[in-house]
Amino acid sequence: MMNTTTTTPRRREAPVPDRIELDGAEGAFRPFLVESLRDALGGVIHREPAIPRSRRAPEPSGADPLLGHLREGVGDPLTAFLRWRAEVGDVARMRLGPTVVHLVSHPDLVREVLKDRHREFVKPLYGRKNLAKILGNGLLVSEGDFWLRQRRIAQPAFHKKRIDAFGARMVIAAEALGDEWASRDAPFDVARDMMRVTLRIVQETLLGAEPTQDSDRIFDSVSYLIAAMNQRFRRVIAPPESWPTPANLRFARHREVLDETVASIIRQRRARPGEGDDLLSMLLETVDEETGESMDDRQLRDEVMTIFLAGHETTANALSWTFYLLGKHPEVARRLREELRAVLGGRPPTADDYRALEYTRMVFSEAMRLYPPAWILARAPRVDTELGGYLLEGGSRMFISPWVVHRHPDVWPDPEGFDPERFRDPKAIDPFAFFPFGGGRRMCIGQGFAMLEGVLILASLAQRFHLELVPGHPVAPEAMVTLRPKHGVRVVARKLA
Ligand code: HEM
Repeated sequence: MMNTTTTTPRRREAPVPDRIELDGAEGAFRPFLVESLRDALGGVIHREPAIPRSRRAPEPSGADPLLGHLREGVGDPLTAFLRWRAEVGDVARMRLGPTVVHLVSHPDLVREVLKDRHREFVKPLYGRKNLAKILGNGLLVSEGDFWLRQRRIAQPAFHKKRIDAFGARMVIAAEALGDEWASRDAPFDVARDMMRVTLRIVQETLLGAEPTQDSDRIFDSVSYLIAAMNQRFRRVIAPPESWPTPANLRFARHREVLDETVASIIRQRRARPGEGDDLLSMLLETVDEETGESMDDRQLRDEVMTIFLAGHETTANALSWTFYLLGKHPEVARRLREELRAVLGGRPPTADDYRALEYTRMVFSEAMRLYPPAWILARAPRVDTELGGYLLEGGSRMFISPWVVHRHPDVWPDPEGFDPERFRDPKAIDPFAFFPFGGGRRMCIGQGFAMLEGVLILASLAQRFHLELVPGHPVAPEAMVTLRPKHGVRVVARKLA
């Protein structure tokens, strides 16, 4: 693989606003094809010179003359991405409709894009606009100086000591779920329960533990918006938001409920400063050391929404896949129980046990290697640039897929095998060969939170129950905003003596 960091003179340039201004007339999630056509028309109008063929990355076979690899990429992206890398290598060039996309799959190149040359690659406008419909200009969406300031203000709230203090709430929620399981004989979907427990945890740690009348409304609206976001994620065409379809009306109603509820909680907190030990109170109180500024109400609202949505579905999916893999690999489940018995001896876990629960962490990490909840990261080169010896157009799209890199055969022996031992020495693992939380400066701010939560929930439930997979129930990954089990994971909970 060639590896170069030279850039060519600037030609086309991708627009990179720090903040997204929404004009209201756009679809809640502008479908991919419509957006691609807009891109293409823009290109025609500006008569942009094409990149010379000799310098382009290789294209996988099977492109349709009109749609390129769109059908394959939208239809079954998980299989398609693996095929593209296997066929043409670590930089694959595809056309999805009129849009040029590169799939970048070698850890060295991932490091270049996310870390060493991060200034050259931005989050693409299209994906950011769609997310901004719910998340506003929260950390996931914003760019440049605006993002940097927000990250500086939010960072202290995610300090390890603060996150450890949330451990007790995480365990209370997991134990309560275990109590429900104890009285349940019938099969159930563990993926649904993981969504419930992680949503409860993010709600309590972000907004406070006291259940209020707002709690149910928040729960319903967040669940609905996540489901809607997932449904629309891979649609090629969808009616614009301004059309009063039942789905659009429901979407708008839930977003309003969430907006109003969060705004009223923020108002109450501002009226009684110093109260509360949750993430929101930390975000309210922190001041940017460089500028002396704190967040205004609008920005707080956006960050609260972002943490809500980014902070529970991902962890829920990681746990669902972990339980699925434990059901498939009884020997690993047995070793996990041994560790839990030795470390906890039947008592509920605490944040202090995190370090000692080594095998539990290894199991959770290996599950995220095989089923990374954030299965795709999108970037765009700002200007024409070289990567891995190929020329990439400024403004074209780039996908980096942990799903693909975590299975790279040059890095991972027996890539499809479930073997937690790979994580025995985490320092020996290249952080860009295993990067479920991303990498570089846009790395997940909630990594410590998610790891603690995942390990504590797993420890709490796996020491009390063995989850048996229901035979014949199909379990398959579905590539939506996150990687989730398409038909859930149906299990029966067997109580352990
Ligand atoms: C297993 C669970 C999780 C996974 C796999 C995950 C994955 C990721 C990834 C890959 C990114 C980077 C996206 C990119 O570079 O394009 C990210 C960003 C982010 N995540 Fe997570 N995440 C998880 C849990 C959480 C939790 C629990 C929170 C909050 C409590 C959170 C909040 C965020 C935020 C705010 C960002 C944006 C950071 C920035 O750009 O500054 N995530 N996450």
